[in-house]
Amino acid sequence: SAPLRTHAAAKGKFIGTALATGPLGSETTYRTIAGSEFNQITAENAMKWESTEPSQGQFTFSGADQIVNFATQNNQQVHGHTLVWHQQTPGWVQGLGATAMRSAMQNHIAQVVGHYADNPAVVSWDVVNEVFDENGGWRSSFWYNTLGQSFVADAFRAARAADPDARLCINDYNVEGINAKSTAMYNLVSSLRQQGVPVDCVGFQSHLAIQYGFPSDMQQNMQRFAALGVQVRVTELDVRMQTPRDSSKDATQATYYRNVVNACLAVTACAGVTIWGFTDKHSWVPDTFPNEGFALPWDANYQQKPAYTAVHDAL
Ligand code: XIL
Repeated sequence: SAPLRTHAAAKGKFIGTALATGPLGSETTYRTIAGSEFNQITAENAMKWESTEPSQGQFTFSGADQIVNFATQNNQQVHGHTLVWHQQTPGWVQGLGATAMRSAMQNHIAQVVGHYADNPAVVSWDVVNEVFDENGGWRSSFWYNTLGQSFVADAFRAARAADPDARLCINDYNVEGINAKSTAMYNLVSSLRQQGVPVDCVGFQSHLAIQYGFPSDMQQNMQRFAALGVQVRVTELDVRMQTPRDSSKDATQATYYRNVVNACLAVTACAGVTIWGFTDKHSWVPDTFPNEGFALPWDANYQQKPAYTAVHDAL
């Protein structure tokens, strides 16, 4: 039957995947599925600060361009990920004083967003990523601890200046349901927009786990953000399970995938769903969460799992 992207496009949504440069360069099956099933791409790591500006003022776009070129060849839109984050950012940034850190941030954004400003494939950016803690306070990151909350507005203004046409997003995890963290995000986005700061979009990472339950108010939560006038999107969906894998867990996982797609379909302002990879052969989950895995719709042998069927049927 038709690939996911055909069904998503018919409903005016994207269905995307994160891509890693290693398998993109070396695995034919990886390239074939990525190119045929999805109409949106996010670089899993290649656009992060440590990849694009490892030493100050030395910009390298080889990995990022590899991914953008693949997307262009396959008529896919690219979401830039990510400009300002507390992880995968070189030590030289983290050690700067306030004035120098703000300048480095503004220059990084100008150069990276500017590199793709005239490229029609690159349509949006995660400008800031993961600025909240689980209680809804500001995360105690080197960004916040050096600059205070002003770095967020400054980052969005720099991104708008570098590409007036790009859609600019704030992105986080554990904000899928209505809770203290998502309410902090809601209040920040509301306040920034009232101040004229160019925040266009909110990204819900959606790194879910079957043992923690599904955030049943996800649609309602996305809808309250939409009412602020922003686009919403699911940016990093995966649904992990505790090992070992079995058919019952696969079935539960499939319902979570279906629920996320259905929530996005039900919210007009939801642009689409990006899955954080697509094959269990290449997933961050086993490297990050001990004794968990199998979070993606294709298994490690590129066979479709029940989660694939669930996404396909929902679209
Ligand atoms: C992860 C990648 O998947 C890994 O390959 C890398 O080692 C660490 O980062 N939130 C994000 C993503 O915004 O950038 C993270 O990606 C997963 C959590």
